[in-house]
Amino acid sequence: MKRRNVKRDDSSPDRMDRKAAGGRRKEGTQSPWWIKRGLLAVAVCILVPVTYKIIPTLIQDIIHTYRLSVPFFEDLSRPADFSLNHTINMYLTSEEGISLGVWLTVPESRWKEAQGKDLLWYQNTLHDGNPVFIYLHGNTGSRAAPHRVGVAKLLSALGFHVVVPDYRGFGDSTGEPTESGLTTDAVHVYNWVKARSGDSLVVIWGHSLGTGVSTNTAVKLLEEGVVLDGVILEGAFNADKQYIPYNIFIWYYWKIPGIKHLFSFLWERKMPVFPTEHNLKKMKSPILFLHSEDDHLVPIEIARQTYEVAAKAQSKDRVKLVTFDGSLGYLHNGLYRDPKLPGVLK
Ligand SMILES: *[C@@H]1O[C@H](CO)[C@@H](O)[C@H](O)[C@H]1NC(C)=O
Repeated sequence: MKRRNVKRDDSSPDRMDRKAAGGRRKEGTQSPWWIKRGLLAVAVCILVPVTYKIIPTLIQDIIHTYRLSVPFFEDLSRPADFSLNHTINMYLTSEEGISLGVWLTVPESRWKEAQGKDLLWYQNTLHDGNPVFIYLHGNTGSRAAPHRVGVAKLLSALGFHVVVPDYRGFGDSTGEPTESGLTTDAVHVYNWVKARSGDSLVVIWGHSLGTGVSTNTAVKLLEEGVVLDGVILEGAFNADKQYIPYNIFIWYYWKIPGIKHLFSFLWERKMPVFPTEHNLKKMKSPILFLHSEDDHLVPIEIARQTYEVAAKAQSKDRVKLVTFDGSLGYLHNGLYRDPKLPGVLK
């Protein structure tokens, strides 16, 4: 330590002078420093248990107040600002106190007709016979992230409806993100769509974290006797094959400066599991895996292994894996840009 100090001081003549003058006094000033630390430690020991119960609510309040009051924060109530001119914003209550922001996009062929239409019109279009895709997005950010808007545009251009919710704690949705909470939200959105889509095909497309939510949702619905018409898993992670060292919802708490050190145990309590393999073994829906060979977050080998689990549980004609060449540079988020994708989806 001392050596380092000397080295650093050497670089500044001004500091060297001060060191020469006060080098000895340094030894004597060490005890107040430790007392300060001790006091801080005591304060933390008292504060932490006291605030243990109230802090999650507090964090939630601060986050939502903060987001609503910052004018330059993206305005998710205006999807047209994100070049989705045939999309309407709405809110669904997935359970008491949980409001979810959701975008509904009609097939692109109806974009002109959609101008100025209200929510009722959008809802009624859901049973026009065109398939409906519910897109369950990945971790962090909101439904307005460019690659998510990209998927919505692609599906819409292919003549499909697209429903893109922000789970609790994401975007302008209220609540705190937890694994079971996200699954509840997805099931709610699915049931809402189903109640309005008539006989149309309803497909769930999960990306990244959303793949975990998708298989959870499929299994939860299966327990109610519902088999999804189709499930697309893009960039699917697999917690059985990959070690995830931290709580994936940590970003939610990071928004409050300093909170991550003080209250780390709070999110450790709610460590998500996402039992993808376990779910895949139960699922009865056709599944399409989409994976880029250069995916830097979920290696392609994991995708192949995960696919094998699903293919074994059902059969090779109900479970497909489509990979994208690494040279295309799609990484974890970009494969929606691929020109062969529309063909694959149809
Ligand atoms: C609205 O969106 C559609 C579909 O993306 C696009 O073809 C059209 O040019 C857009 N119109 C305007 C006025 O921005």
